[in-house]
Amino acid sequence: MSDTNKVAVKLTINGQTYEKEVKPNRLLVDFIRYDVGLTGTKEGCSVGVCGACTVLVDGKMVSSCLTLTPMANGTDITTIEGIAKADGELLPIQQAFIDQGGFQCGICTPGQVTAAKALLDFNSKPNEQEIKEWMMGNLCRCTGYYGIIRAIKAASGQEVEPIPGASD
Ligand code: FES
Ligand code: FES
Repeated sequence: MSDTNKVAVKLTINGQTYEKEVKPNRLLVDFIRYDVGLTGTKEGCSVGVCGACTVLVDGKMVSSCLTLTPMANGTDITTIEGIAKADGELLPIQQAFIDQGGFQCGICTPGQVTAAKALLDFNSKPNEQEIKEWMMGNLCRCTGYYGIIRAIKAASGQEVEPIPGASD
């Protein structure tokens, strides 16, 4: 029997369709993490500032902590678990995060990678200023952004400075 306090939603996440009933105020980040079990998407600030909860909704970058699940009804969502190719091969931007030292902690990195993918889908060769402006919604309070910027440049075929201190 359906719960009259809930609404039916149908979302496609990483190619799989989910039909569920949710409370009207169910946040998309909670739907993804707890109703579907895809815990790669993280919740940091909960107020749309840090970017940890970034997912792609119909290809567009969205803060899932600010999105009600019913607002995403009928959409096609990509989370960090669905960024790689269907056969599991990493996208160039994922590999570049590894190679260029862009990987940071498990809270910010999923959102950083997802935002970087969205950037390259929008602009295949962003300059450094464009990278900084696009990525300014994805915060890290502990390490830095040089590896991330290098990774985006490298993934888009641009020359990058050697990693400081790295031996060849
Ligand atoms: S948790 Fe959504 S932007 Fe920080
Ligand atoms: S918040 Fe992830 S490394 Fe700083």
